[in-house]
This record gives sequence, C-alpha cells and structure tokens, in this order.
Amino acid sequence: MVSYLFLSLFLFFPHLYASFSSSVSHSCSSLIQFNNSFSIAKDASFLCNGIAGLKSYPKTNSWKKGKDCCLWDEVTCDHLNAHMIALDLSCSWLYGNFPSNTTLFLLPHLQKLNLAHNDFNLSKIPSEFDQFTSLFYLNLFNTGFVGEVSSQVSHLSKLVSLDLSSLTNMLWRELFTT
Ligand SMILES: *[C@@H]1O[C@H](CO)[C@@H](O)[C@H](O)[C@H]1NC(C)=O
Ligand SMILES: *[C@@H]1O[C@H](CO)[C@@H](O)[C@H](O)[C@H]1NC(C)=O
Ligand SMILES: *[C@@H]1O[C@H](CO)[C@@H](O)[C@H](O)[C@H]1NC(C)=O
Repeated sequence: MVSYLFLSLFLFFPHLYASFSSSVSHSCSSLIQFNNSFSIAKDASFLCNGIAGLKSYPKTNSWKKGKDCCLWDEVTCDHLNAHMIALDLSCSWLYGNFPSNTTLFLLPHLQKLNLAHNDFNLSKIPSEFDQFTSLFYLNLFNTGFVGEVSSQVSHLSKLVSLDLSSLTNMLWRELFTT
C-alpha cells in the first residue's frame, strides 16, 4: 500500500521523484568522501572481538559506488523526506585522523550516529558535531578521540544517549593483555 502510494505520487508529480533522488545522491557523495578519509585496520576495532554480540569487520568494504547508499547495510534513510537518518559504523576497522571538515557534517538530518570502536588516531573532536541538531543517539565509545566536547554537545537538544568513554585503544590493549 505504501509503495503503491509512492508510485502514484511519482507518476503524477515527477518533480517529487527528481528532488527525492537528487537529495539522496548528494548525501551519498558526502558519505563516500567521508569513507575515503580512512584506511582499514583490524586493530582499530580490537576491542570488538572480546564483546559478545558485536560484529567486527570492515563494513565499508561492501560500499559500492553506483548503488543507492540508502541500501547499504549500515545506512538508514527516511524515504519520505529523502534524508539519511542513521549511520552505524561501529566496529568497522576505520583507522585514521578524523577530518574536522569531513563531509559527514553535510548530513544534518542524522538522528543516530554510531562510530564506536574505530581508531581516529587521537583526533580532536570537531566542534562541528553541534551541527547534528536532529541527533538523539551519539556513540563515540573507544574511538580514540581526544579533547573537550561538553560545550558543543550542549547544543544538541534532542540528544538522549551519548557515549564518549575516553579510554584509547592503547589503554584497552594494555588492560586486556596484562
Ligand atoms: C569505502 O571504503 C572501503 C574501504 O576503504 C572501500 O573498499 C570502498 O570501496 C569504499 N567505498 C566507496 C563507495 O568509496
Ligand atoms: C596518526 O597520527 C600520527 C601522529 O599525529 C601521524 O603521524 C599519522 O600519520 C596518523 N596516521 C593516520 C593513518 O592518519
Ligand atoms: C578538508 O581540509 C583539507 C586540508 O585543509 C583539504 O585538503 C580537504 O580537501 C578538505 N576536505 C573537504 C571535504 O573540504
């Protein structure tokens, strides 16, 4: 029924479909640029192996250009408004500095963002996180971020869950191997 409704909407109002697809493809290119900032290193998600229920693998390896990124496993889109609303890249072996001008910040409709258990190489937490005004879940647990976050996050009025536990991978590894 819902898809029938969509189909009829697009049949009778073709401009709707055009604006829908261009907004999503714009989000996809932002996501792909974000993806390209990192290399893949199994060690970056070291802790995931020890936590039951967490799947640890390079999730972004299955991201293929040309396929609508809303169909990628880790991505959730709101098809009614053509917004990307959730991204779960926990335990994805992402390694590298987290650019403060990353195109991730061009996805302001995100409501859930999980980057837990990757290694952003002691990057400072960019103040641009305050642009995610729709965010109600943010997980930066064990991401190797450093720096102050409180003032930015206080702008995120919808946030109900925030995990910023700051032990670095290095410390975790010491804890687990001694
Ligand atoms: C995303 O990153 C992974 C790992 O670096 C790579 O294999 C993949 O091709 C990238 N996908 C896109 C669409 O750029
Ligand atoms: C990690 O940070 C170090 C020190 O700032 C730097 O030399 C290195 O190039 C960074 N590695 C990556 C993959 O960004
Ligand atoms: C971010 O800044 C770096 C260094 O200033 C630049 O090389 C890069 O192109 C910028 N990236 C974006 C997405 O603007």
